[in-house]
Amino acid sequence: MQQPTTLYITLSFNPSLCTTKKATQKKTLRFCCHNCSVFVTLLSVKMPGLTIGDTIPNVEAESTIGKIKLHDYIGNSWAIVFSHPGDFTPVCTTELGKMAEYSKVFEEKGVKLLGLSCDDVSSHLEWIKDIEAYSAGCKVDYPIMADPKREIIKQLNMVDPEEKDSSGNNLPSRALHIVGPDKKVVLSFLYPATTGRDMDEVVRVLESLQKAKKHKIATPANWKPGDDVVISPGVSQEEAERMFPQGYKTKDLPSKKEYLRFTNV
Ligand code: BEZ
Repeated sequence: MQQPTTLYITLSFNPSLCTTKKATQKKTLRFCCHNCSVFVTLLSVKMPGLTIGDTIPNVEAESTIGKIKLHDYIGNSWAIVFSHPGDFTPVCTTELGKMAEYSKVFEEKGVKLLGLSCDDVSSHLEWIKDIEAYSAGCKVDYPIMADPKREIIKQLNMVDPEEKDSSGNNLPSRALHIVGPDKKVVLSFLYPATTGRDMDEVVRVLESLQKAKKHKIATPANWKPGDDVVISPGVSQEEAERMFPQGYKTKDLPSKKEYLRFTNV
């Protein structure tokens, strides 16, 4: 009679490198040893990738202004890093043109812009001529990184699982990360290729983030720059009086809890 065989299997994998489409995906492996087969089912759980609170990876790549090392480029500024599915595509051309139109607004707010598309630098330089012709009077005065090997879009969680180029390679989504001077991601957008971003919304959220960093406030639904803000819940009434000498109004609510306090900063 055959003796039972003990088979030890050590499996290791890096979940952050999994790019499965679904939240979980099963993969069954078959190991053969003499006459026995062992089936092992691996269950990979999709990790969220780069998200708010994470330090943005210090990627290094060629760009339209030469080699960029991301942390050096950001320096002590805020930064907006935004990706595009491809050069010479209609929505992307309008988006980069809008960014060029708004670049002074971002500069005044201490923000550096950085575009990213997978095509190479020579393609980006040709494409800029079209962008500037479309957005007459605007200069693409921010760099566009190149990522022909699609390594950076993975590190920056910018891969669109649905969009592929003619060779079957993944393309970037319309991802946008706002990064603080500490290099931490403070806000991210993730849009599909078919939906162009609204740069007024980018300005709006940036203003909210910068105000919230400066004062103990948050911005309510549909807030626009200039509107009243709300005092953060952790601020006591005594602190609120000291911090907001301009005054604040407390909304009378059925609960009689005095947590909805409006002020202007
Ligand atoms: C665009 O930029 O227009 C675009 C790019 C890829 C897919 C769909 C639209």
